[in-house]
Amino acid sequence: LAKAEVDMNAIPEGKNVTIKWRGKPVFIRHRTADEIAEANGVNVTELRDPQADAERVKRPEWLVMLGVCTHLGCVPIGEAGDYGGWYCPCHGSHYDISGRIRKGPAPLNLEIPEYSFTEDKLIIG
Ligand code: FES
Repeated sequence: LAKAEVDMNAIPEGKNVTIKWRGKPVFIRHRTADEIAEANGVNVTELRDPQADAERVKRPEWLVMLGVCTHLGCVPIGEAGDYGGWYCPCHGSHYDISGRIRKGPAPLNLEIPEYSFTEDKLIIG
């Protein structure tokens, strides 16, 4: 299937869901207001892969990204690491609540796939 549909009502605020899309994990997080504020409070110029949170999301409360570490492709763990986001246990990369690389060997932020919204569904692809 080229596209994947996710019922947004099934993902409460503050929770992560992982789905498979084209053989890869896609991480979806329903972010809280505090998490959105944290993501926007970061000084972008200090980032290894400088990207504002607003460039990474279509709606601030929904973070959608490929669950593939940009170092060597392991699957990071959610709600882990030093920056309140994801942690890749393979070689210790830490990603923040916007999926941006903050510490460890990964060169780039977690990649954002194509996606769109309907009234109550998130469509990946
Ligand atoms: Fe994630 Fe190396 S594959 S840190």
